[in-house]
Amino acid sequence: MNLTKKCLAIALSALFSLSLLVGCTGESGTSGVSASETEYKVGLIQLMEHPSLDEIRVAIEDELAAKAEAEGFTYTYDYQNAQGDTATIANICQKFVADDVDVIIAIATQAAQGAATAVEGTDIPVIFSAVTDPVAAGLVENTEAPEGNITGTSDAIPVSKIFDLAAELTPDVESFGLIYNTSEINSVSVIEQTKEYLDSKGISYVENAVTATGEVQTAAQNLLNKCDAVFAPIDNTVASAMPILAEEAINAKKPVYVAADSMVADGGLATVGVNYTNLGTQTGDMVVKVLTGTSVSDIPVEVLKDNAVVVNEETAQAIGVDVSQYVQ
Ligand code: TRP
Repeated sequence: MNLTKKCLAIALSALFSLSLLVGCTGESGTSGVSASETEYKVGLIQLMEHPSLDEIRVAIEDELAAKAEAEGFTYTYDYQNAQGDTATIANICQKFVADDVDVIIAIATQAAQGAATAVEGTDIPVIFSAVTDPVAAGLVENTEAPEGNITGTSDAIPVSKIFDLAAELTPDVESFGLIYNTSEINSVSVIEQTKEYLDSKGISYVENAVTATGEVQTAAQNLLNKCDAVFAPIDNTVASAMPILAEEAINAKKPVYVAADSMVADGGLATVGVNYTNLGTQTGDMVVKVLTGTSVSDIPVEVLKDNAVVVNEETAQAIGVDVSQYVQ
């Protein structure tokens, strides 16, 4: 599929940036503000492409555009996607620093870590988005009053809510297979909580680490052979192969519980999670605050508090689980 799709995506995003520029210039022209008015430079790095990260980025873009119009400022916008590659993350962030952007927005943990490294010794602020555990990731120490020039939003969720839901929907499950990338600290943090929870309930588990999207299918088959159900945390590597994991589980007629709504949309049975459009909007608001003069230390890290149960009816039907009470 990909080349055409990718070209289209690039063309679209170029168009989007262009329309932002044109839109914004038009705005200051019509309101008669002089050309000396500040034009902010915004750089956005997204770790990779998967539905949840894309949803977050669109929400950030929409919020920035809306606030720029409402508050009468203009900005240039440079969106870069690292395609999950560590060296690319570093290159993109160094380029943002060389361009002397006014803020770097970083979507997902590894992108935020790359941005944090690149801005060391500069005064460029970083606003991260959807970092599950910003303390474990080494981005902030004090989430209430971030001490570096870095703050943002977190999608941390209490895993007990997900496993309580699992106990309700599929009470016969006695063992979980845990699938995640051990180099994603966001996943490691959730898996630590998961093991504590499962230990406390006397439920057994088997782990299968993956280091790349291509390993998800074999790992899924292995875990589905050994366990009654699979759990995937907020893991970018697994999320990008979610349709494959879901298909394997449906074939095995076993439930996959996940930690993000997009992974339910991609075939997982159920989750309790945050709304990523709201998370993106909140990230955008933080960016605007920083651009317009608020100090980062006055912007606490925001953990989204509203969690909602999300179920996939088709998957439920395919594996014979009753989710009717959660269908609106
Ligand atoms: N929270 C993830 C991180 O810290 C990023 C993320 C956001 C994500 N939405 C997701 C990962 C959905 C998997 C599925 O990097």
